[in-house]
Amino acid sequence: MSEADTIGPKAAVTTAMTAPDRRAPPAIITIFGARGDLTKRLVMPALYNLVRAGRLPDEFAIVGVDIADQTTETWCNSLSEMLQAFLRARGGAIDEQAWSWLTQRMEYLRGDFAEPETFSRLGGVLKERERQNNAANVLFYLAVADRFFGPVVEQLGRAGLTRQSDRTWRRVIVEKPFGHDLPSAEALNAQLLKVLSEDQIYRIDHFLGKETVQNILVLRFANGIFEPLWNRDHIDHVQITAAEIVGVEHRGRFYEHTGALRDMVPNHLFQLLAMIAMEPPISFDADAVRSKKTELFHAVHPISPTDAVRGQYSAGVVLGRQASAYRREPDVAPDSKTETYAALKLGIDNWRWAGVPFYLRTGKYLSARTTEIAVHFRQAPHVLFRGTAVEHLPANILTLRIQPDEGLSLSFSAKRPGAEIEIDGVEMNFAYRDYYAPVVSVGYETLIYDCLIGDATMFQRADTVEAAWCAVQDLLDAWAHAPAGDFPNYAAGSAGPDAADRLLARDGRAWLPITGLTSNPRAS
Ligand code: BG6
Repeated sequence: MSEADTIGPKAAVTTAMTAPDRRAPPAIITIFGARGDLTKRLVMPALYNLVRAGRLPDEFAIVGVDIADQTTETWCNSLSEMLQAFLRARGGAIDEQAWSWLTQRMEYLRGDFAEPETFSRLGGVLKERERQNNAANVLFYLAVADRFFGPVVEQLGRAGLTRQSDRTWRRVIVEKPFGHDLPSAEALNAQLLKVLSEDQIYRIDHFLGKETVQNILVLRFANGIFEPLWNRDHIDHVQITAAEIVGVEHRGRFYEHTGALRDMVPNHLFQLLAMIAMEPPISFDADAVRSKKTELFHAVHPISPTDAVRGQYSAGVVLGRQASAYRREPDVAPDSKTETYAALKLGIDNWRWAGVPFYLRTGKYLSARTTEIAVHFRQAPHVLFRGTAVEHLPANILTLRIQPDEGLSLSFSAKRPGAEIEIDGVEMNFAYRDYYAPVVSVGYETLIYDCLIGDATMFQRADTVEAAWCAVQDLLDAWAHAPAGDFPNYAAGSAGPDAADRLLARDGRAWLPITGLTSNPRAS
């Protein structure tokens, strides 16, 4: 067990007392969807972890709004049960002192999001809290289904709750999905921007809360050795993989009209693409970074259906467990044409990347869980090894492992010991766990904290979201007009459809195997 896991309640509170400079400013978080899954699984555990890390100020409050008839006490109890179960599953136990610090500051407000009266009552509760806290900063967290994003913000505006002053802010966190295509994302942006200014809106993509995703910028720009090689002169191609070992679980209804492309590509995979491929920003200022991302998305070529593969899983075995076909999942049509797998070849139209393909793939129920980016460098010229036994020079591959085995490795060639010149592929490996104690985190801590301190770098700007949708819109349309005729076309537990292999094979390339291995298999 790590130091972070074992830190006692006293220690956690002491940290909070001794590090006032790291604390967020006084604020009230209002969570819409207080009883929902997101609040239970991610928002509250993240707030609890922030308390333990000493990041929240004493003048802090949480107001939970939802339709169910509940009291503050029953709300807190249900969250506490969830948190206990969550911590138990990770071999930990609840830090009672940190949890009671939070519950003392929590209040439940029953209300229908469609009723103006809910918002006038919320206004009253916030006024009272502001008086007690002596601070009027409010973060509205929309942990609700996407159809409520626009209406809730409109109601907040009508009730005068989004008005800021010179000394106080009002911000809104909007969850994914932000629209389901370009026109709907534009419409949602327009609706929100009628009430809020852009700097009040924090659009979440939870991939940006992952430590390893944030580390990509540090890797590229805090090290002198990578950036000079980071271009078409030295890089042959890039593979971005987000492979999952879960199916659609209980989300059939949502997934049926979403599919793998919408669910993962213009958001999560594009965040990885942006981190790896954008031009260096002039600073880490939010707008400097987000402008570079937007520019990159604008440079993505329209994706032709011939450069894309879709798949849907049939029954199979995933990590030794029987998995049923997508079409047999709850709330899924028996003849569903929804894709649970997508692979794409992207071209980027700029000086740095012209001619360098970026291959992206993501899918449910694949053979292993891994999210990684593999940068394949160009092969060394073969000339030196003429007349030796060397037939093949492996290319250098820099692999950034986003999850679950966070780290980075570089494969390169070495001479196998012996009289002959024989070349072997070997690997240098950096694993986070070898250097740092694991931090207990659900991935939302940084995002919530950043929003409280007003740092929007890891959030999406309106134009960035639209540029990402724009890049995939042609393909969304093409797939909608020509439903797949060969579904299901990959077995649960496999590496995906064969056509995805052909997508690379026609360019003389191959996907790296999808493996959950944590280190070089040769080492064991
Ligand atoms: C969500 C998608 O946004 O991201 C899910 O809706 C997907 O379908 C999930 O499983 C993947 O996130 P993570 O952090 O588990 O890799």
